Amino acid sequence: MRILVTGASGLLGMNFSMQVKTEHSISAVVNSHGLRSLDFDSIPVDLLAKNVIPQLIDKTEPDWILHCAAIAGIDRSDNQEELSQKLNAEIPGVLSLEAKKRNIRLLHISTDAVFDGKKGNYSEEDPTNPMSVYAKTKLAGERAVLEANSDALVARVVFYGWSLFGNRSLSEFFINNLLKGKQVKGFTNLQFCPLQVNHLADILLEMMKKNLSGIYHAVSSESLSKYDFGVKLAQKFALDAGLIAPVKNNRENRSLNLTLNTDKLTKELGHAMPNIQIGIEHLFEQFNTGYLDKIERMRF
Ligand SMILES: NC(=O)c1ccc[n+]([C@@H]2O[C@H](COP(=O)([O-])OP(=O)(O)OC[C@H]3O[C@@H](n4cnc5c(N)ncnc54)[C@H](OP(=O)(O)O)[C@@H]3O)[C@@H](O)[C@H]2O)c1
Repeated sequence: MRILVTGASGLLGMNFSMQVKTEHSISAVVNSHGLRSLDFDSIPVDLLAKNVIPQLIDKTEPDWILHCAAIAGIDRSDNQEELSQKLNAEIPGVLSLEAKKRNIRLLHISTDAVFDGKKGNYSEEDPTNPMSVYAKTKLAGERAVLEANSDALVARVVFYGWSLFGNRSLSEFFINNLLKGKQVKGFTNLQFCPLQVNHLADILLEMMKKNLSGIYHAVSSESLSKYDFGVKLAQKFALDAGLIAPVKNNRENRSLNLTLNTDKLTKELGHAMPNIQIGIEHLFEQFNTGYLDKIERMRF
């Protein structure tokens, strides 16, 4: 397959591109950060610039677009409301329409944060109720995608892994700070289902190969609190879990229980989503086998 990956300098886009590059042809769209690879083309494009999307698609002629580019994260997005509105809410609809016109499939990446976190175990049919600018603009983005083309594919995700600059993921937050002996907070009242990013890359590729359409929850088969996640990482990496202070997050715009039900995708793919332990084992193996050096060589 020829896959156009937006947000390829980001945590998900980069890991996806690195993972599938030998089997598939990748066109990797970056914006402010460079990404160097011998195995795929890296294309600098500001997706907000006028008329760039049709040109990008015509130039790369993909079978699939994996749309990862976003203002990702609640704090970042809340601080850049106008930009988030454009990039998270409007651009996905433009991509979806342009892809549809050319008969190209789109896999759009959305978030678990579209829910208010009052109930947990959310299925794809449960009503959404986003709490932050980030969540509102991401929900608007998935709606715009499906309005432009009801056959588009939307994955609601949450993930962790190694990123280009070592600062994009919750696992990096815990590991980097604990390696330096610094105290950190771990939220005991935020529940989530994080998937290791390379496991997510495998799942997304399977979803493409199965030619799925509509909304799917693509998260870990298990849930835990952010505090427990930090403790599990500390244990695996032989770091001091005592440096993680168990605290509650009382900020208004946080959804507390973001556990998602993955039955729909599990049934479609014929296997369960990877669990937390297997994800952390994979993260540890990468740490010990030069994956971070590989990533460093891609930066410029
Ligand atoms: N991380 C999570 O756990 C999580 C959870 C739920 C959902 N998601 C969703 O997953 C997707 C990927 O997230 P991520 O964590 O990989 O994000 P990330 O690491 O913050 O990367 C964001 C990407 O978007 C690109 N980008 C930003 N503005 C752009 C623009 N104007 N034009 C083109 N590209 C632009 C960035 O490019 P440059 O860096 O080159 O500027 C970067 O490659 C997002 O849709 C996010 O909402 C993430």
